[in-house]
Parts: sequence; C-alpha cells; structure tokens
Amino acid sequence: MRAIRLHQVGGSESLLYEEAPKPSPKDNQVLVQVYATAITPTEFAWYPTFHTPDGGTRQFPIILGHEFSGVVDAIGPACTGVQVGDPVYGLSDWFIDGAQAEYCLTVPAHIAPKPVALDHAQAAAAPISALTAWQALINRAKLSEGKRVLVHGAAGGVGSFAVQLARHKKAHVIATASAANADFVTALGADEVIDYRTTPFETVVRDVDVVIDTVGADTRDRSWGVLRKGGQLVTIAADAERFSQPRVRDAFFIVEPNRVQLIEISRLIDAGLIRPIVGTVFTMGDVRQAYEQKPVRGKNVLRMAAL
Ligand SMILES: NC(=O)c1ccc[n+]([C@@H]2O[C@H](COP(=O)([O-])OP(=O)(O)OC[C@H]3O[C@@H](n4cnc5c(N)ncnc54)[C@H](OP(=O)(O)O)[C@@H]3O)[C@@H](O)[C@H]2O)c1
Repeated sequence: MRAIRLHQVGGSESLLYEEAPKPSPKDNQVLVQVYATAITPTEFAWYPTFHTPDGGTRQFPIILGHEFSGVVDAIGPACTGVQVGDPVYGLSDWFIDGAQAEYCLTVPAHIAPKPVALDHAQAAAAPISALTAWQALINRAKLSEGKRVLVHGAAGGVGSFAVQLARHKKAHVIATASAANADFVTALGADEVIDYRTTPFETVVRDVDVVIDTVGADTRDRSWGVLRKGGQLVTIAADAERFSQPRVRDAFFIVEPNRVQLIEISRLIDAGLIRPIVGTVFTMGDVRQAYEQKPVRGKNVLRMAAL
C-alpha cells in the first residue's frame, strides 16, 4: 500500500510518501481502507508518537494521523459488531500506527458508523476534535444548562466543537478568537466573542463555571482568575504535561478513543446540531504542505487515492 512514514524523529520535513506493507487484521482487529485522515500538526511533539506506553522508544517507521474515515476492508477472526463494507470513522490508539496510509488497523471499540450527512473528508476531521470537546465538557466539566463556559481557541478544531456542544447543552458560551473569526464563532453558537489579540479576556470575563483551554501557557495561567468559586478549568494544551503543579496536572487530559461517544457525536451531526470544520483537503503527495499550510479554521484533511 502507499503510506506516509517517518523513519526518524522529526517534523513534516521528515515525512516520506512511499510503499509500505499492507497490514492484516488479527484477533479482534479491523482493517479499514482509509478514505481520508485529518492533520494534527502537533502530533510530532506528542509523547505516544515516538514512545511506547511503558516509556520505551517506538520502532520506526511510524505512521501518523490517528483519526480517519473509510470503509471496513477486512476483520480479524475474533472481531464482532463490524462488517466488511461498513463505512466507519474513528480515532485509533495513539501508540499504534495511524491512518496516513491506504489502510490502517483499529478495533471495534475505537470506531463507529460514519455520520451519513458527511463525506469522508468531513468525517475524518471530526473524531479527535469532537471527542476531545465531549470528554472535556461532558465527562470532566459535567456541563449543564445555564452554566457559563469560556472556550479559548474557539475557531480551532477542538474549540469549534466545544462551542457547538456547549450551545447544544444550553450553556452560556463565551469564546476567544481573533477578530477575523468572530462572526464564524458566533454562528457556531457563542453568545459572546472576545478578540484575544486586542482584549485581555480577564478584563471582561468573570465568574465562569468552566474554562476549556485549548491554547495553554499564559492563556491558561490567566484563566484561573475568571473562574467562580468552585469553577473548573480543563486544559488540553500539551505544555500542561510538563507542570508539576497539581491543579494544572489535574486539569489536563489526553483524548481517548470511544465508540459510544462517536455514535452519539454521529447522531448530533446527522441531526444538524454540530459539524466538523474542514480547512483544505490535500492529496497524500502534498502531505508536507498539509502540515505547513495552517488552516484559517478547523483542520486540514488528507484524502487517499481511493477517494
Ligand atoms: N490533549 C488532547 O487530548 C488534545 C486533543 C486535541 C488537540 N490537542 C491540542 O490542543 C490544541 C488545539 O488543537 P486544535 O486542533 O483545536 O488547534 P487549531 O485548530 O490549530 O486551533 C487553535 C486555535 O487557537 C486560536 N488561538 C491561538 N492563540 C490564541 C490565544 N492566545 N487565545 C485564544 N485563541 C487562540 C487560533 O485562533 P484564531 O485562528 O482565531 O487566531 C486557532 O483557531 C493543540 O495544541 C493540540 O495539540 C490536545
């Protein structure tokens, strides 16, 4: 099969578009013919990209891109609940090879039927961002009607889902974004938008129940002060991993694959209540450009030759 692989630690300049062995599914594994996969530029810096769960070093070559949309091509002998030919989307285990290839391996617990309202390129842009927003707002912050939530980076992949989900939960949504994205974020459901480039948010926001921080660093540090007493900050920015401060460590999490949540996300997408935002769709041969050309909004997507 054709695949995009890393043979050394590096960034997008190290990616090679080349032939690779087509995997075959064992046990309960599912082989997916990948139609599209979204780009996560920060994946080069994420711990599982080059490490094993026990702290060792992963073997090269390595395939990135852990969210995908495609069609089930084959299943392992112990696989149940998934049929060859099913259109699926999903987020695979961070520690295994990803979906920047014509085929990828996953398991039934990490995939769900693709939303019918979306094409594969759109569906591929949903799993990481939608699951992250879901796990931040619903699992960790337990957001409910009438709560006040501040979403940092609201025009981004995760932020755009966080705004839509918070709106769906009938929360009062305050968003930070650049001025060029203010109308876009309002259309997603934000009640208030703050241009982070001109207005320090802490001068105009106070007493929020929940902060969803997708930016990190100084933005996270300044956010503690806008929480009401007992309010909760949730951060996904990777710099939090390096902090020993308990409140920062407790606020940080890494998104996990989840079939049940993906099914619920599909339902909301098909009902027209939430949607992924796609930047530009690139071909496999243009993968470096897909990493280097920052999308104005949402996520860039790679489509495979099969699409
Ligand atoms: N821990 C996890 O499980 C997890 C999961 C997914 C993503 N992440 C991480 O979360 C971060 C966000 O991911 P993403 O996919 O949403 O990124 P993204 O699509 O690149 O969005 C980032 C957004 O941040 C905005 N921004 C930049 N500086 C800002 C500031 N000072 N204040 C407010 N907004 C600011 C930008 O807005 P404008 O365009 O309006 O300037 C941009 O839309 C990345 O670092 C990613 O690695 C972590």
